[in-house]
Amino acid sequence: MVRRDYSKAMQGPITLCIDIGGSKTKLVRCDARALPLDEPLRKDTPARSHPESTIDLIAEAVDELGGEFDRVSVGYPGVIRNGVCETAVNLDPSWQGFPISDVLTARLGRDTRAANDADVQGLGCIRGHGTELVLTLGTGIGSALFRDGVLIPNCEFGHLPYGRESTFEHELGKNALHALGWEAWLERIPPALDVFRRCFNPDLILIGGGNARFLPRIPLPDDIVIVPNEAGLYGGVRLWLGVQSET
Ligand code: BGC
Repeated sequence: MVRRDYSKAMQGPITLCIDIGGSKTKLVRCDARALPLDEPLRKDTPARSHPESTIDLIAEAVDELGGEFDRVSVGYPGVIRNGVCETAVNLDPSWQGFPISDVLTARLGRDTRAANDADVQGLGCIRGHGTELVLTLGTGIGSALFRDGVLIPNCEFGHLPYGRESTFEHELGKNALHALGWEAWLERIPPALDVFRRCFNPDLILIGGGNARFLPRIPLPDDIVIVPNEAGLYGGVRLWLGVQSET
């Protein structure tokens, strides 16, 4: 159980970090150093979830989590522009155009910043030097690109074409993993990484998401780092650090 005693030592604002995933929605409060104040709370994201039901789920989870917080960060599995959801590939289409920042600000009574979930994950795990490519292997394939710690928001490399009729997300996402089994699915990872290497010449590739847990079963080159899933939550604190990370 994490719960830290911050009654006196606490410095800086507390951020409620939310990660809306294709299958799980997670919440945790973090201090100004992005250290968690509680054990993250995990709730099932309703299948093909609608904005309203998900916001209700978040509000109920915030009550369950308890504790004070000063501001809110949310990672959303799609493109976010100016606090508005622009795409909803693995969610209900009614998310498109949904002003998630404003709605959560009103519902939770705290300023809210929203960004793409892979961008938040990256903010939580990058080293801040050179070109860093972040990939998340989950329901969908998330991606984020950083140069010397500066984010280029909303890079959607998972939707790049793969062969004539497919995409990286279609070949490597959760449905492919379930259809193929992990051994055959894993065989697809090194060639996919080679494509990203050839395109972006990253100094480091950081891989997160629930299905990254299978990667240690194959030999991984030195430019690959597996990052903890929790980075997708803790990275929310960094959304408040610089204008370049707010989308
Ligand atoms: C979405 C991305 C997201 C990824 C992982 C993709 O389908 O288009 O924005 O980062 O899933 O959730």
